Amino acid sequence: MAEPFYVTTPIYYPSDRLHIGHALTTTMADTIARYKRMRGYDVWFLTGSDEHGQKIQRKAAEAGISPQEYVDRIVATFQELWRQLGISYDDFLRTTEERHKKAVQTLFRRLEAQGDIYKSTYHGWYCTPCETFWTETRLAQGCCPDCGRPVEKVAEEGYFFRLGRYADQWLRFVEENPDFIQPPSRRNEMISFVRGGLEDLCISRTTFDWGIPVPGDPKHVIYVWFDALTNYISALGWGTSEQEKFEKYWPAVTHLVGKDIVRFHTIIWPIMLMAAGVAPPRRVFGHGWLMVSGGKMSKSKGNVVDPMVLIEKYGADAIRYFLLRELPYGADGYYTEEALVERYNRDLANDLGNLFSRSLAMVERYAGGVVPVPGPATERETELAAVVRHSIARTEQELERLDFAGALAAIWEVVDRANKYVDEAAPWNLAREKQTERLHTVLYHLVETLRVLTVLLAPFMPGLPPRVWPQLGLEAAPQLQEWESIHRWGSFPPGAKVKRKAPLFPRQEGVAAPVAEAATPASTVPQITPRKEVTLTEMATVSIDDFARLDLRVAEVEAAERVAGTDRLLKLALRVGEEERTVVAGIAQVYQPEELVGRQVVLLANLQPAKLRGITSQGMILAASDGEAISLLTVDRPIASGSKIT
Ligand code: ME8
Ligand code: MG
Repeated sequence: MAEPFYVTTPIYYPSDRLHIGHALTTTMADTIARYKRMRGYDVWFLTGSDEHGQKIQRKAAEAGISPQEYVDRIVATFQELWRQLGISYDDFLRTTEERHKKAVQTLFRRLEAQGDIYKSTYHGWYCTPCETFWTETRLAQGCCPDCGRPVEKVAEEGYFFRLGRYADQWLRFVEENPDFIQPPSRRNEMISFVRGGLEDLCISRTTFDWGIPVPGDPKHVIYVWFDALTNYISALGWGTSEQEKFEKYWPAVTHLVGKDIVRFHTIIWPIMLMAAGVAPPRRVFGHGWLMVSGGKMSKSKGNVVDPMVLIEKYGADAIRYFLLRELPYGADGYYTEEALVERYNRDLANDLGNLFSRSLAMVERYAGGVVPVPGPATERETELAAVVRHSIARTEQELERLDFAGALAAIWEVVDRANKYVDEAAPWNLAREKQTERLHTVLYHLVETLRVLTVLLAPFMPGLPPRVWPQLGLEAAPQLQEWESIHRWGSFPPGAKVKRKAPLFPRQEGVAAPVAEAATPASTVPQITPRKEVTLTEMATVSIDDFARLDLRVAEVEAAERVAGTDRLLKLALRVGEEERTVVAGIAQVYQPEELVGRQVVLLANLQPAKLRGITSQGMILAASDGEAISLLTVDRPIASGSKIT
């Protein structure tokens, strides 16, 4: 029987639409769920929505609709987002569902009956955005110690859960289960929190009514966190006559959460379960935050980025890739659209996309589109195979410990090595020299690498395999798409027909960013500082289409002058056919303005404009440099200005 693997996301508050911070946790959960399915586990993947509480009730009142109507609308946007992001959840639990409410009340009654819940009066503070109770002593300068926002005074009759009674049992459990809280830094934090003393927890409210009523005392509603945490077992049928799922999947669970709610998941939740005689969860993983300039991205700060807009622009796979790649293990990561586009262009369009298109193009050009039978492997192939083997092992290890960025880094070792393999093996030379057997060996190892990469990337970018398999001619070979098959290097069937299609990740235009005054982007000024020697083969090849994206023109210098206040910059007035352009060039130390007037130069006309010393430079003129000398490129004989360089 397959081993069970249960994975959950937090159930998000439908107080507002979700942002890419939420998409991050859910993408992680989806990736590990897909991976475990590929490894043959019996996977159950739960997500949902946390629909009760004071915050939601207030939001609904502001909108002038009932809380139920309010959450219905927002939850529909959650589900649409998950559809667009390719989230393969097995169940979506809403806390307003009957199955959930019953389980919460059952749990409440059970704890009350055994004396773990008692009635008293609560005097203290409440943070509504966090839905958290605080005692006076825990406040930070009178505000919520978690989020820093103002708290509200609460004095009301309430039900209390004897959390403190279980502190020792909790400490023992955490000691005996060193992997329960991950990463380890969060574990230490939680241990000190509990050692600092656990007070009993107020678990009911009377000042609003949007919640699950306390059984037998309906003027109280159950505290929204007691309600919400229970979702992880209510969704499995716990406490009902249909408990098969609970029996199968509990406690083989991984709760994925942001570090903001680790305390609820690692202290309150396991103690609720211990009290109820249910085993605590196996693992809680608290990942870092996605930050933007100004701090954590959050609904209540209003600095959010809508994932649907990004999916529309860049595609779900690219957004998933960015989120999974950008947060180092357990740490925070930063989001800007520029960073997203840069990663996309470098990792996906260039490294990965190019490897696919150049490899397939060569199979088409040099082998008629049919994967050839390889000849004997040389050291180059042995080395490639070793990198692949090592990368597979590392990817598996990193995924086991939920280091998604680490796993992708391991996969890119293959991408990089394979690109280098192409450059070194130089199939174009083998073709020219008619070394057919050797050529076939190289082409074969390339397509085999593409196959392995596609399998490795499937959990991260589920949109990729359905696009790649037909291109590799493997759409009807499911056994070669399975995880286990990548442990058998050399499984690609010779004779398969490849069909190259549109690029997997077409390059993105840069995001127009405001260019700071006096900034000097290296790209607009020829460098005269000595550089490290770059051998011709060290740079990735570009396709003819990549080259065609550069609008290179012959331009005539009509006027030239020094830019005041610098000894490097010249301002050039250029005629380009019918048009005039101003370009700033860093050549003043080598060229006098006078000697340039009337000369024909080569202009990169579609370079994104940049501001230099207050002058907008509309392109770049090309120059050669050996590190010291600079020589402007010009044309061999006069030609009409504006002529295209192809
Ligand atoms: O806390 N970076 O819901 P919530 C990374 N309903 N992750 C982020 C993030 C960011 N900037 N912003 C949000 C709740 N998240 C409760 C949960 S569970 C029983 C109840 C993610 O809508 C991260 O997973 O405030 C965080 O823990 C969660 O969204 C909080 O979502
Ligand atoms: Mg929150």
